[in-house]
Amino acid sequence: MTTTDATVTDEPGKPFHLTGNRRPVEHEITSHELTWSGDIPADIDGLYLRNGPNPHSGSSPHWFLGDGMIHGVRIRDGKAEWYRNRWVQTRQMTDPSARMIGPDGSVDYTVGVSNTHVVAHSGRILALVETSFPCELDGELATVGPYDFDGKLNSAMTAHPKMCPVTGEMHFFGYGFAPPYLTYHRVDPSGALVQTEIIDVPGPTMIHDFSITENYVLFMDLPVVFDLEQAMSGAMPFRWDEGYGARIGVMPRGGSGDQTRWFDVDPCYVFHPANSFEVEGADATTIMFDVARYESMWKNGPDDFSAPGGFHRWEINLSAGSVTETPLDDLPFDFPRVADHLVGLPNRYVYGSMFAADGASSTNGLVRYDVVSGDSQRLPLEGKEAAEPVPVAGPDGTSGDEDDGWILSYVYDKAEDSSELWVLDAASIESGPVATIPMPQRVPMGFHGSWLPAGSWSD
Ligand SMILES: [Fe+2]
Repeated sequence: MTTTDATVTDEPGKPFHLTGNRRPVEHEITSHELTWSGDIPADIDGLYLRNGPNPHSGSSPHWFLGDGMIHGVRIRDGKAEWYRNRWVQTRQMTDPSARMIGPDGSVDYTVGVSNTHVVAHSGRILALVETSFPCELDGELATVGPYDFDGKLNSAMTAHPKMCPVTGEMHFFGYGFAPPYLTYHRVDPSGALVQTEIIDVPGPTMIHDFSITENYVLFMDLPVVFDLEQAMSGAMPFRWDEGYGARIGVMPRGGSGDQTRWFDVDPCYVFHPANSFEVEGADATTIMFDVARYESMWKNGPDDFSAPGGFHRWEINLSAGSVTETPLDDLPFDFPRVADHLVGLPNRYVYGSMFAADGASSTNGLVRYDVVSGDSQRLPLEGKEAAEPVPVAGPDGTSGDEDDGWILSYVYDKAEDSSELWVLDAASIESGPVATIPMPQRVPMGFHGSWLPAGSWSD
């Protein structure tokens, strides 16, 4: 990988994930003295949490292996009340003797970096990484500790659980390096883990994310495979193996793992689906599965990030047992998000980060796709990087127009080496921010976050 934009912070010889806005910050701070430009909409009331790798030692062997750090901004009454950033105090960070893999090959899921996402369900805030149990946080971002759903969780937990807006359930899965390779779990609205199913797949692959519809759960079994030799050397333990093939699994919600139907697709990699939903036709039920697709991933080693290949639709005809593949756009794109109340339901708008053509080295703007009209809005940002756009519902919540709300994104200024939180109108991201909130210290690019509406966590 190369970087095309020289910044004040590029350092020759350092791995890309420790340069520019991927390099860690050194301090935890709390600020109640935030200022802003423009008008923060008075209807926004909640907490924006964002997770990302921020190695405590200042260094990590791979971008994905740094200790997690949560950045939080509380917004209420047209004001940005506070910012704080806190490391997730995992056992991996605080206990030098902790090992995820024991000498006998056993796995300790309480060890892990919890650096990928942060979500809230049934009043609990969970920092997530796909190799481990969740790590619970309190409303001021202090670490409570590993969480295993009252002892019921028997696998790792993906960093990308799906909250069903219809049932209030949380669906997730975990993948493993030894059988069972893939395990699905369902948590009821009260937070109780009520279903666990083993999903049969041919081998251990990196399954980063998945998707739901109103009646189905979708798994992606793609050819980034586990490599024991790489694992033993301490490197990222995955590599591209096109011969593994690529398939989408469709399991009925409430059904059993052995009811999963598999549909072959062209080899590719997908970190992140945007959404999936069902369409009932006269003769068939079809699932629209929209994703940010890569032609391949890590072909030449685990630092060889391919450029995102663009927005892509898999159309799964459940009646005919077939899949149609349709590229929707070739703009390099990832971090897709839809409104939280439309997860698994028909959506029109998808928000994401635009990437430079050199791969994961830098984002260069935001994009909004309209999957009904095929139009898009783009907000290119010269000299800036925009992190994942997170939708915030407007004052009418789920009854308003789909784009009646706002988008939050951390935007990094390369020349200034500083960050702002931008608030954009979800209907018009191309107009630029309606408010910008300078952060009291740089916020590294990071991965994923959530908007927690007031009342969804213990303040
Ligand atoms: Fe992710």
